[in-house]
Amino acid sequence: MKKLIDKIGEELEQAFVAAGYDATYGKVTLSNRPDLCEYQCNGAMAGAKAYHCAPLQIAEKVVERLQGNPMFLEVAAVKPGFINLKLTPEAVGAYLRDMAADEHLGCDRTVSPKTIILDYGGPNVAKPLHVGHLRSAIIGESIKRLGRFMGHTMIGDIHLGDWGLQMGLIITELRHRKPELPYFDENHQGEYPKEAPFTISELEEIYPTASAKSKEDEAYKEEAMQATYLVQHGHRGYQAILKHILQVSVTDLKRNYENLHVEFDLWKGESDAQPYIPGMVEEMKRQGFAYESEGALVVDIGEETDAKEIPPCMLLKSDGASLYTTTDLATIVERMKLYHPDEIIYVVDKRQEMHFVQVFRCARKTGLVDADTRLRFLGFGTMNGRDGKPFKTREGGVMRLEHLIGDINEEMYQKIRENQEIPEEEARRTAKITGLSAIKYGDLSNQASKDYVFDVERFTSFEGDTGPYLLYTIVRIKSILAKYAEQGGELEQAVIQQPESEAEKALMLEAAKFNGVMETAFTEIAPHKICAYLYDLANAFNKFYHETRILKEEEKERQKGLIALLLLCRRILETCIDILGFEAPDRM
Ligand code: ARG
Repeated sequence: MKKLIDKIGEELEQAFVAAGYDATYGKVTLSNRPDLCEYQCNGAMAGAKAYHCAPLQIAEKVVERLQGNPMFLEVAAVKPGFINLKLTPEAVGAYLRDMAADEHLGCDRTVSPKTIILDYGGPNVAKPLHVGHLRSAIIGESIKRLGRFMGHTMIGDIHLGDWGLQMGLIITELRHRKPELPYFDENHQGEYPKEAPFTISELEEIYPTASAKSKEDEAYKEEAMQATYLVQHGHRGYQAILKHILQVSVTDLKRNYENLHVEFDLWKGESDAQPYIPGMVEEMKRQGFAYESEGALVVDIGEETDAKEIPPCMLLKSDGASLYTTTDLATIVERMKLYHPDEIIYVVDKRQEMHFVQVFRCARKTGLVDADTRLRFLGFGTMNGRDGKPFKTREGGVMRLEHLIGDINEEMYQKIRENQEIPEEEARRTAKITGLSAIKYGDLSNQASKDYVFDVERFTSFEGDTGPYLLYTIVRIKSILAKYAEQGGELEQAVIQQPESEAEKALMLEAAKFNGVMETAFTEIAPHKICAYLYDLANAFNKFYHETRILKEEEKERQKGLIALLLLCRRILETCIDILGFEAPDRM
């Protein structure tokens, strides 16, 4: 469905042409002065130079052509040459009726669907999820859902960090604690136990212990590095342990991500890319891209236009070991082979930007991706505490994701209990749903690349630009609709009518922006634009609600129209929050 602003633009273009000017001047924008008009066109000012006449004169001639146009209630040329526009209630009502009749609320799905791989989440196996992983999960999930809504094939891949020193550290610590296990018996024949020799809580304790030891004890670290080398080079016993670590860890991760309403299509990891490394490196050598430099194997990726020198991309260290970069390159090889994506988007901490510049350039130069495959890095900023420093526990430690979620849910629970007679169990459930909205909206409403302050107090508030405020608005709509139905009203028969008040019209104009917002949010991969829209829409709704009799409206046809508007608003709000990755309760 055409965007409302484009429909208005078309009328203006035609008027410019009819008045003897070029159509390009007919571009329309939202009004800068909502007190004066709803939309405006500044084309007369731009045209003044080209046509050697006063902008106001051009504006007046165009306005003349728009007289009697059924789309406009008011068209005015004002100094120095603006064209101010107000729509007729009929035009607005008709647009919203079309929107309501459309399955996707007037948002056209793409005619050329792309396959897009989304690399997000990126937790490291055996290390507990901490708040740093939260942003990637939240932002990535919303982009995935937005892409699907626009009609693209989105493949979300968690890309587990399962190939580092942490594996060697865990193996080493385990070996010290339980040397009698068969994994450490070099003469062990046959199968290894099916059951892991540790639980998730043990595993979570083993890693930090081992990591701390390795920092103090050189020999221990040496041992861990040796174990890492062995597990990466086919040691059977160690690989069996690796499998256990993965299995125990992934079970726990799945539970955590489920609580966050984050779902991955692929649970692949760095280890899956390893088999592609030898062939990839050989090919890069054969084609003359990779060469030896001080014992290491590198690829030059500098470009003439670089203001600062970009260091060569290292593929193999002098001892033959591969690096984070090598793994990401090999992952691209695997993804191209298995999924032929048109695009790969990485949602990763912005401090890794240089790494991705190297990976992307190297992949392009060496032909790992087709010329038209797009590689995009969406770097996100740090989540800070109220002190402006990276978010920590009260004791100053790294905040575990589970604890953060627990804290927020508790805060929400207290608030819900405070002012409601909601039974305990329901209050807990609602607190969970509302808490998730507080966390996700708090994060997503900021532009991803910016750092932001995670303010529990503010995020959990029912007032202001918060998740709970949006949910509150949805719950309000649901409750009116429920009461209307209780009174015998039939929701299905309601059809949107033209607005009768300023507040109603303002709400409708806000609702009408939906398709434009979705389109921009997707092309710019900017979920925060959906948040800004939601907040505006919720505000417009609440203003309308306070000024309008709905359930007490006596004129039944008018009431039906209002109910239809409520139904549409609910659909829009719920569609948007679903894309952002949370949902609304029935009451709160
Ligand atoms: N595991 C990494 C980390 O915790 C993030 C992985 C990001 N994705 C990627 N393809 N490198 O820093």
